[in-house]
Amino acid sequence: MRFFISDLKNHIGEQVELKGWVYQARSSGKVKFLELRDGTGIVPCVFFKGEAEDAAMELFDKATQESSVKITGTVKKHPKHENVFEIAAKTLEIIATSENYPISPKDHGTDFLMENRHLWLRSKRQHAIMRIRHEIISAIRDFFDGRGFTLTDAPIFTPSACEGTSNLFETKYFDEKMYLSQSGQLYMEATAAALGKVYCFGPTFRAEKSKTRRHLIEFWMVEPEVAFNDMYDNMELAEQFVEYIVQRTIKNRAEEFRVIERDMSKLEVIKGPFPRLHYKEAAEIIKKENPEFIIGDDFGAPDETIVSSKFDKPVFVHHYPQAIKAFYMKEDPKEPGYAMGCDLLATEGYGEIIGGGQREESIQKLLAKIAEHKLDEKDFQWYLDLRRFGSFPHSGFGLGIERTVTWICGLPHVRETIPFPRLYGRSYP
Ligand code: 4AD
Ligand code: MG
Repeated sequence: MRFFISDLKNHIGEQVELKGWVYQARSSGKVKFLELRDGTGIVPCVFFKGEAEDAAMELFDKATQESSVKITGTVKKHPKHENVFEIAAKTLEIIATSENYPISPKDHGTDFLMENRHLWLRSKRQHAIMRIRHEIISAIRDFFDGRGFTLTDAPIFTPSACEGTSNLFETKYFDEKMYLSQSGQLYMEATAAALGKVYCFGPTFRAEKSKTRRHLIEFWMVEPEVAFNDMYDNMELAEQFVEYIVQRTIKNRAEEFRVIERDMSKLEVIKGPFPRLHYKEAAEIIKKENPEFIIGDDFGAPDETIVSSKFDKPVFVHHYPQAIKAFYMKEDPKEPGYAMGCDLLATEGYGEIIGGGQREESIQKLLAKIAEHKLDEKDFQWYLDLRRFGSFPHSGFGLGIERTVTWICGLPHVRETIPFPRLYGRSYP
């Protein structure tokens, strides 16, 4: 019978058969030693002369790094450490050899590793990051599913722009011009009118020619939308959401955080309430440290860092100038010129992880906005219908998965947070 490394704790003293790949191997005289990984974990396998079959001892040197193998042996518990096991190996069978595996334990440059991303994913640090990403995604789903939200995924082929036209990926839909979705939001506004509390969770695309540590060309975004929520309800929801995913991830993934050497004290404090700043207050803070910043402009990455460095919790910035925000943002009737948008800036200089706010519900104002943004009114007729037939105040937000994983893992760059990143200048493998 086949066993998995993650289950060994239930089979101490038993003879097991494991299949996987050789992570590392070394021989010293009578003892030969290899680390076996099977995707569920890594376990040391010790081959003693006399205990292991002679055939296994002879074959051992052919079990090079990343060869696929079958090993049988007895599960032993570590004498001192809890939850640490080893296999006293008996047999070794090579399923397929691996010669000159390109990634060795020595330091490789990032370009080399990115070029070999399909293999790089086999290393410990990458396993940890992928498992944390997975945990964050399950936490996201559980949060919304547990609160009565319905998943209503948005299309990827879209006839119109949501987040401005400057970074749209153009493609063909047979003979028609079409774009890859920048955001599912507009569709969530339609499904919110149908089902009340909804979300979508899928890939989104931005043709941004920027090589920063925060930008991907293809990234995953979760976008909740709630009928009759205003901007303040929206911040409340985003706050509970971010607290939930951080706390749940640190509870369930302690081992992975240990592998990537994350400073957990920075995550433990991520609990509501989060500070909330009006754009004007944030702009004042920035101006003090970056005199070149022009009040009224959007924040650059260093500006976001100035603001977030003042707090040990994520900080909301709301009421951005209408002029720098998307066409669908509601203008605050009490503060003309300012939009009821609210972004969330992560701690430790990781910048914006959430963008969202309250949507314009007046058809007249939306028509003016569509014209002002030089968008084609005809593409938005279905969207305007949501205002024609029982218009309703509503709000929502989008959280970028990779930026969130980068922040929670404390990584220097977004590229390691998705299995196969699409970056400006990189679309292989
Ligand atoms: O602020 P953005 O552009 O907001 C929207 O798309 C809204 N329509 C969402 C909504 O209200 N439903 O993007 C939202 C988030 C950002 O805060 C960031 O986390 C992520 O998406 N994001 C990116 N992540 C990686 N690479 C990029 N190029 C990203 N652009 C945005
Ligand atoms: Mg944004």
